[in-house]
Amino acid sequence: MLSFTPTLLLGLYAGQALGAVHHMFSGVFSGTDIYAIEFDDEANTLTAANNITSIASSSKWIAIDALKKNLYVANGAQYDSYTITNSTGLEYVSSVSVDSSCSNLNYIVASSVSPYVVFGAPYSTGCAGNMLTVDSTGALSAIVGNMTYGSGSGVHGLALSADDKFVYSADDMGNAVWVHSYDTTTDEVTEVQYLAAPTGADPRHMAIDPRGAYAYVLFEASSEIGVYARDNSTGMLTYTNTTYPLLPTGFTNATSSYWADEVVFSYSADGTPKYMYAATRSRTTTIPGYVSAFSLDSNTGAIIDQLFLTETTGSGGSANSVTAALFSEEYFAITDSGSNFIEMWKITANGTSSATASAVAHFAMDSGPSTVVMYD
Ligand SMILES: *[C@@H]1O[C@H](CO)[C@@H](O)[C@H](O)[C@H]1NC(C)=O
Ligand SMILES: *[C@@H]1O[C@H](CO)[C@@H](O)[C@H](O)[C@H]1NC(C)=O
Ligand SMILES: *[C@@H]1O[C@H](CO)[C@@H](O)[C@H](O)[C@H]1NC(C)=O
Ligand SMILES: *[C@@H]1O[C@H](CO)[C@@H](O)[C@H](O)[C@H]1NC(C)=O
Ligand SMILES: *[C@@H]1O[C@H](CO)[C@@H](O)[C@H](O)[C@H]1NC(C)=O
Ligand SMILES: *[C@@H]1O[C@H](CO)[C@@H](O)[C@H](O)[C@H]1NC(C)=O
Ligand SMILES: *[C@@H]1O[C@H](CO)[C@@H](O)[C@H](O)[C@H]1NC(C)=O
Repeated sequence: MLSFTPTLLLGLYAGQALGAVHHMFSGVFSGTDIYAIEFDDEANTLTAANNITSIASSSKWIAIDALKKNLYVANGAQYDSYTITNSTGLEYVSSVSVDSSCSNLNYIVASSVSPYVVFGAPYSTGCAGNMLTVDSTGALSAIVGNMTYGSGSGVHGLALSADDKFVYSADDMGNAVWVHSYDTTTDEVTEVQYLAAPTGADPRHMAIDPRGAYAYVLFEASSEIGVYARDNSTGMLTYTNTTYPLLPTGFTNATSSYWADEVVFSYSADGTPKYMYAATRSRTTTIPGYVSAFSLDSNTGAIIDQLFLTETTGSGGSANSVTAALFSEEYFAITDSGSNFIEMWKITANGTSSATASAVAHFAMDSGPSTVVMYD
């Protein structure tokens, strides 16, 4: 975010205020809708602003570009891009296809630095991840490079370093993380590191602290956050053997009854997020999942404290995805496809021992939301 022009930065800061209506988009696991949703932070309401008909029968993962002009959708065997016409409007522009043997495109993420390349990956055994270029409007143009993995790999989540040099892959099927470097002038993608994860971890998603020194990996099977130290110049990771639980002490049913989903930082325009949020899903619709937040050291990005670990209001279904708000680091959205809703949550107390969070707005939906991206 540091490389934005002053005008853009002004625009982003202008969005960081309470007392306003904020906009977001949500994809769905099944169906042609993409929802434009509004959150009023004074009335604490979430409402449907526009139900957009997408070109696809699902939008399992969506991403927004740094300039907030394009929405990207991972859908089957293709990546789709839509122009964001205004805070509640989308218009379909282009698609880029992958081989039909890799038809479970499941994750997509956009770089925050010009030329704004986009990375996606299929959750299909042995398939490569892809680096895509965009045209002058930010619409997806072509796959120009691949992140190659092992024959037993299945990558579920990707993460980028803030310096726009490295892409990280959470290999859920292969129980590993991969590091690749990329070069947007030559369009070359190069393997830097393969790192096996602890037995029974199953990395699903991960997040690279923008300060450069840590990577946090969500272990789906054990419902834990694994802490990795990161070499800021080589991009390489070292597992620290430290984990934080995403289930209460004493639960022995992590793998049989839960599947952790997401880890993200709170949004900080200057690249020093104060919090990291993580959530786990329950495999039983009538039993809740969990959400947790961590406070981070402002200089290093190291975890200072696990602030809370609290039940979500639903199981999460296939979702319980968490997305940081742009207007306050204390707010985040949760999607639940078990009971079909989106909620806005707020961290309601400060300090290490008293912090907690609760849902402040609930939006019931006709179909199961996958993931939310914030527009303003
Ligand atoms: C937003 O854009 C859509 C087209 O994508 C249009 O139908 C709608 O009228 C626009 N809304 C506003 C408030 O301008
Ligand atoms: C990337 O992989 C696809 C197949 O998945 C292949 O068609 C394409 O040529 C590869 N591109 C590069 C630049 O390696
Ligand atoms: C990490 O590396 C990037 C570019 O290589 C640099 O801009 C940034 O300042 C470095 N961060 C730290 C904490 O050294
Ligand atoms: C983690 O544990 C392994 C196995 O005991 C050990 O070899 C390794 O040095 C430890 N790593 C760190 C960073 O302490
Ligand atoms: C997992 O085990 C705990 C402790 O026995 C129990 O309270 C909880 O309901 C179980 N969760 C599921 C999803 O079955
Ligand atoms: C926590 O304290 C910080 C610094 O005093 C403040 O900026 C922030 O708004 C507080 N958060 C909450 C939820 O009260
Ligand atoms: C838009 O979506 C919301 C949430 O699913 C639903 O309640 C509403 O009926 C939909 N509106 C239209 C016009 O389809």
